[in-house]
Parts: sequence; structure tokens; C-alpha cells
Amino acid sequence: MPLTAQQLQQFFEEGYFLLPDCFTEDEVVILRDEAEAIYATHRQEVWREKTGAPRTAFAAHTYNEAFRLLGAHPRLIEPVEQVFGEKLYMHQFKINAKAAFEGDVWQWHQDYGTWARDDGMPEPRAMNIAVFMDEVMPINGPLMLVPRSHRQGVLAAGHDRKTTSYPLWTLDKATVTRLVDEGGIVAPTGKPGSVLMFHGNLVHGSAPNITPYPRRIVYLTLCAVSNYIRAPTRPEWIAHRDFTPIEPVPDDALLAYTGRVMRQVAAE
Ligand code: SIN
Ligand code: MN
Repeated sequence: MPLTAQQLQQFFEEGYFLLPDCFTEDEVVILRDEAEAIYATHRQEVWREKTGAPRTAFAAHTYNEAFRLLGAHPRLIEPVEQVFGEKLYMHQFKINAKAAFEGDVWQWHQDYGTWARDDGMPEPRAMNIAVFMDEVMPINGPLMLVPRSHRQGVLAAGHDRKTTSYPLWTLDKATVTRLVDEGGIVAPTGKPGSVLMFHGNLVHGSAPNITPYPRRIVYLTLCAVSNYIRAPTRPEWIAHRDFTPIEPVPDDALLAYTGRVMRQVAAE
């Protein structure tokens, strides 16, 4: 379904919009199962918190069928093609765990700051997409956004390699205070299957999760093909070099895949 004029206006003015119930529980359940199977592996793409709990798994669309289908899903691809007016490729794909009790902080940052500095992405013509796999609540470390901060361009940032297991270009307290004075903070919540899309320059972060409720979110970064990265320094599985335009899969692809897996299990 095309984005409405109101959703487009919210994106350009506030820097984000939410699509509640974009995927059904039947579609999301398989993603949760597959994410847990990936976290249980020792692949180099799986990064852990300092405690050993999973933090993020990179590039699952390249080695897992369910996440491959999600990465080419028309309910994600079509709205972003509408925003950028051209075909897209996958710049980055992460499954963030924010594990119960152990999920750690994501400091305040802009993603495009990293894509520009570390990957040589020319413009912020890439959309961040968060697909909620669990219910995101005010209490389990929701993603916090600073509305309208995407209009500030790339802000000065320091490379923090110490706070968490994941190095990040983070903003200082004075900058965050100024931006929050102007735009406030929102923390969109929603049921599993809800989708949040936000601008590459929108300032965001999240607090640790000390609740028994995991907050697993898949993050896709869909980049306009003409805006491909020019000077990557990070591994291929963090900043992808396959600039082939994504062709969307059929709308029922995730359900069809779940059906195939169930039949296979029943036959064993
Ligand atoms: C991110 O900014 O890349 C992740 C934040 C989160 O999962 O809370
Ligand atoms: Mn981020």
C-alpha cells in the first residue's frame, strides 16, 4: 500500500513514521525462531554483549532464507522506493536482541554519520527500518528518537570503542541536550510485526533492558542504488558491496516459507 501524504510529511518533517501491524503474528513467529537459531551459532556475524548475551547478528539475509525474504519484502521495499524514487540495495542488515535482563545501551548517535565516515556513502539517501519481533514497550529498552534532528546534517561525533562491545560514533551530552530541547524524545512502541522507518540522520539510542521481556528488532538499511558506498572500510558483512537492485518477493512469501518448514518438520 503506498504511503499516504501524511506519512510522507511526517517522515520529511519529523524524521520517522510507524506502520503498526505491518506483519502478522504468523509471519513474525518464524523470524523469532530463526533469530534464536542464529544467536545460538558462533558465526563471526553474531556479536555479544560483554556478558555473553547476544547483541546483534549481521547479514542474516545472506545466510538465512526467512530473513532473505524479509529483506526483499514488498511491504518494506515499496514504501522506501516511493520515498527515494529509485531502486534499492541492502546496505546493512542487523538483528538486535536487546536481551531480557542483559541487553545493553546503544548510545546516542546518527547512523548516517557512520555510513559517511566509515563506508563513504555520499548522501543520507538510505532508510533505516525497524521490524519489531517482540512487543516494544516503554519498559524493555525501546528505540528512542529525537524528532526533527535529521534536519541538522551530520553532527560532530566521537568514536566510542569502550562503552559497549560495538564501536559507535556517538554524540556528546551538550549536543543531545540541545537537540532534545528543540525536538523532545519519542519512543515508538508497538506489537510484534509493527515497523518503524526513520531517516539516516535522525538521532537515536536506547537504554539497557533490565526486564524479563526481550526486545528483538530486525534493522534493515535500504539504500538508493545510485547512492552506493564509495569507500568502505568495514567488513562486507557489515557494509554490503552487493549493489544489485532488490526485486521484491511475493507478498505472501514469508507465510509460504513457514508452510514449507512446517510440512518438512511434519514429514521428519
Ligand atoms: C541501532 O541504533 O543500530 C540499534 C539501537 C537499538 O537496537 O536499540
Ligand atoms: Mn543506529
